[in-house]
Amino acid sequence: MNNSKGRLIGIGVGPGDPDLLTVKAVKTLESVPVICSPKSSKNKPSVALSIVQGILDGREYEYKVIEPIFPMIEDQKALESYWDLAAQLISKELDEGRDVSFITLGDPSIYSTFSYVANLIEKQGYSVEMIPGITSFTGCAASAGITLGEKDEIILVVPKVDERLKGLLEHADTMVIMKTSRHSKMLEEIIEGDPREKKVLSIQNCGMDDEKIFEGFAKNKRYLSTTIVKFNDFKTHEKS
Ligand SMILES: C[S@@+](CC[C@H](N)C(=O)[O-])C[C@H]1O[C@@H](n2cnc3c(N)ncnc32)[C@H](O)[C@@H]1O
Repeated sequence: MNNSKGRLIGIGVGPGDPDLLTVKAVKTLESVPVICSPKSSKNKPSVALSIVQGILDGREYEYKVIEPIFPMIEDQKALESYWDLAAQLISKELDEGRDVSFITLGDPSIYSTFSYVANLIEKQGYSVEMIPGITSFTGCAASAGITLGEKDEIILVVPKVDERLKGLLEHADTMVIMKTSRHSKMLEEIIEGDPREKKVLSIQNCGMDDEKIFEGFAKNKRYLSTTIVKFNDFKTHEKS
């Protein structure tokens, strides 16, 4: 590890409500010289940046924002070229001895683009750290007032609905389905094919002004959408 170089710090900014940032995330965002805020396209504002904007506006020290593009495409080769570009942008700052905070929705260890870039940066000999965040599905469970797991219940977290799910589903007491915009039809068929009683809740834009919680599967293609399926036991908690 080269100590004269900056560190890359992946910061989980939670699902949407700025009050759900950790104290450590806030302290780091108040002082780090460079914020890396990934965007899905040049003209689309970053949701993660909007969550931390209030903290950045209140900063005493100058800071710089770098905004690599990570388009929502499936082509692996093309994606890798975007990760390479992001790693180059970040390593330029690290070489100058500046720490870079890569902000990411939820938690950086859960299906985040941070991990691909972090791997590249780590391979180049820089140091990489993570500050955990409240992941979207625990934020969604809190908003919906449901418990994800009790006693020996198994919680299954699924990023992609495909054939693998059929063998796993019977063992799960709770299922969390992320990225639902990609696969709603197959999802419904598989879950409805399970003979157990079930409750299906969808949570969209959790923690944001336009948060929506409803029973059933989401029919729209909203990206920030999570579905939670509880089998057999449907406890919900009234919110205060
Ligand atoms: C690329 S993954 C990122 C997950 C994130 N790292 C985490 O810890 O939650 C994006 C998926 O997370 C879920 N998600 C993230 N933020 C959300 C929110 N505010 N409301 C509902 N679902 C959300 C959605 O399923 C979305 O498709």
